[in-house]
Amino acid sequence: MTTPANVTPEIDAVRVQYLQLLKRILTRTDFPTSHSLVHLRPWRLAPRHLVFSMMQRYLLSRGYYLVVKRNDALRAKGDDWPSDAETMAGMARLDSLQSCVETVIADGVPGDFIETGVWRGGASIFMRGVLSAYGVTDRTVWVADSFEGLPAPDVEKYSADAGARFHKDKQLAVSLDDVKSNFARYQLLDDQVRFLVGWFKDTLPIAPIETLAVMRLDGDMYESTIDALGALYDKLSPGGFVIVDDYSIASCREAVDEFRLSRSITEPLETIDRNAVLWRLSS
Ligand SMILES: C[S@@+](CC[C@H](N)C(=O)[O-])C[C@H]1O[C@@H](n2cnc3c(N)ncnc32)[C@H](O)[C@@H]1O
Repeated sequence: MTTPANVTPEIDAVRVQYLQLLKRILTRTDFPTSHSLVHLRPWRLAPRHLVFSMMQRYLLSRGYYLVVKRNDALRAKGDDWPSDAETMAGMARLDSLQSCVETVIADGVPGDFIETGVWRGGASIFMRGVLSAYGVTDRTVWVADSFEGLPAPDVEKYSADAGARFHKDKQLAVSLDDVKSNFARYQLLDDQVRFLVGWFKDTLPIAPIETLAVMRLDGDMYESTIDALGALYDKLSPGGFVIVDDYSIASCREAVDEFRLSRSITEPLETIDRNAVLWRLSS
């Protein structure tokens, strides 16, 4: 980023520090009191996990979570489900998100930002924080989620989602009120944040979004990924970014690869970390 003429080095340093602090808090990086949720591993559901998952569901229905002492290395990489952080992503993915947002602001790439699949909202909160740090008032952060977890797989339509069990995991269902409270906790809930509530297949095709500069997809499944790409990709400005958080999940990867092939997208995929990738639409 180049520094605008009216921004002193001191203001710039405070902005860098604010965004660094925001990322560290949203991810709970270096928070030793934070734990990791014990969760179903739907892609690895072996018989020995069944007893455990029944026990977990029983506890969840009574408002208890199982947590384990967290592994700092996993948290740093965004490879666990944190007990209290507002995002599952680790620092590498938020660093990359910051770089995408700063780049489109610096290059004047027109459009809003969207996250499809927000969970507790942390990555979207961070995008709103970057806008705030740069005093950008003419872009919106769109926050798209069912706010009730993932859909049951529609295997007739999307065979790649066969066996997906994410919909069983109530820890992935975070209510709209909770996500709004999370934005408010960081004093980042205002009219530059708009919520698209419901299944992507219903909300995204009719969303009143004109243009996008950054789209961050984090819906885990084939259906959730292809619905987002199909409804939103044509709204992406040249120079804009597509970020796919779940490229390490086979069904998500299949959706991305098929979409890129069907649309003859040749911009290279860049690796963010072992889970996530991005590409930038040519200008
Ligand atoms: C892995 S979590 C997202 C993690 C989040 N981006 C973060 O930074 O921590 C997946 C989210 O996607 C939502 N989701 C997945 N598929 C969806 C769909 N088809 N329609 C609506 N919401 C969906 C779920 O409700 C859940 O909140």
